[in-house]
Amino acid sequence: MKVVVLTGAGISAESGIPTFRGKDGLWNKYDPTQLATPEAFNKDPKLVWEWYDWRRQLIAKAQPNEGHRILAQMENSIKDFWLITQNVDGLHQRAGSKKVIELHGNIWKVRCLKCREEYFEYKAPLEEIPPKCKYCGGLLRPGVVWFGESLPTDALEKAFKLSEEADIFLVVGTSAQVYPAAELPFIAKRSGAKLIEVNPEETPVTPYCDVSLRESASTGLKKAWEEIRKYTA
Ligand code: OAD
Repeated sequence: MKVVVLTGAGISAESGIPTFRGKDGLWNKYDPTQLATPEAFNKDPKLVWEWYDWRRQLIAKAQPNEGHRILAQMENSIKDFWLITQNVDGLHQRAGSKKVIELHGNIWKVRCLKCREEYFEYKAPLEEIPPKCKYCGGLLRPGVVWFGESLPTDALEKAFKLSEEADIFLVVGTSAQVYPAAELPFIAKRSGAKLIEVNPEETPVTPYCDVSLRESASTGLKKAWEEIRKYTA
């Protein structure tokens, strides 16, 4: 029995990390075209880095919540279990998840535009903005996927394959508006998976769900696990 999970910003909401859409969402306060595109970075790397430095500090202070922990426990007790995330905060790994596929990169990674080296840089706040490469002194960029950029090929191919193979596909805390990640639940459903959703609000995935739990991640995931046990019993 293969269980595959797709998470979005909603799973980290209970850790105090703002989501992107909705009333208190980041894209309500900030313009993504000024902060999360290659063009914005070329125009003003300092401004973009200041925003990422602020988010990195917020994430550094946050702790994984019950939702992250339940998914880490699921991985321990279900043999064929995979977690695909759109989140860049690394909180799944901090909660103990190991089989994590990051579709949109990781906010703790930096990539040099000159020598192309990619490495983890955990300092928050950064010592210098914009930061420079520790190998060659070139300009670094955040190791995340921006609007208009392709997703990492390996991660995306793996995510498509897992979604096709899933017996149970669990979608948690994503508005399912950003493609290609939003396509994954539909691929899973078309390929015969049972679809379970945990989200306080309805999403485009909701009408296709076998079980849809209108709950926060921490509460909803406990119930989702009960549902998964029914299918795996
Ligand atoms: P969104 O901000 O679009 O959606 C967050 C979802 O979480 C919404 O559907 C909320 O209803 C739900 N939610 C809020 N609180 C929750 C809670 N306590 N428990 C469970 N769910 C809750 O975030 P994403 O769908 O992750 O991309 O956004 C996808 C991508 O858009 C992000 O990865 C980012 C963004 O632009 C890039 O930066 C490339």
